[in-house]
Amino acid sequence: MKAITINRLLGAFLLCLAVSTTSLAAEPVTPKLTDKLRHLLQEEMRAVQEGMASIHSAIVMGQHESVVENAQQIHDSFILQQELTEQDREDLMSAVPKGFIKLDKEFHKLAASLAEASRDQDTKEQHKLFSKMTGNCIQCHSKYVSDRFPGVKTFKD
Ligand code: HEC
Repeated sequence: MKAITINRLLGAFLLCLAVSTTSLAAEPVTPKLTDKLRHLLQEEMRAVQEGMASIHSAIVMGQHESVVENAQQIHDSFILQQELTEQDREDLMSAVPKGFIKLDKEFHKLAASLAEASRDQDTKEQHKLFSKMTGNCIQCHSKYVSDRFPGVKTFKD
């Protein structure tokens, strides 16, 4: 009798745990990507990563032109604006939820705003936008790439 109760409690506990975990991290998109999309995305991500490192240095040294150049490049690398075939587009849409696309769009839009702030030589605004962009990396990785990046903790928007 006692064992049954404990089992039930344990079952309920595990169920709660499962529910709370899924509400934190959505199902990872990585296993659903086609090989081509995965390669494109990884390539884009590495370019973004390098761009962000260059931007960081350029902001703190006041090299506005370098910020413009790198931010513009990040904006232009937008995966959805690349030469994807109709089939790739369909594959992407069926692999990722709307929230993912929204985050990606938002991220590339922030890059355009950062380029703009750098044309105005506005260091304060550059700092603000750089932080927002970093927030987007964390948000997308924690929500949709939790299988590869389990160490990135989710946070509320
Ligand atoms: C909209 C979602 C999204 C955003 C925003 C995002 N990433 Fe990613 N990132 C991914 C996905 C998905 C992968 C994993 C791709 C795979 O392995 O299939 C990834 C992987 C990576 C990788 C590993 C690439 C490799 O070589 O495999 C790096 C580095 C990276 N992201 C950096 C960044 C940085 C820096 C930012 C922000 C400036 C960022 N990402 C923003 C979705 C995102």
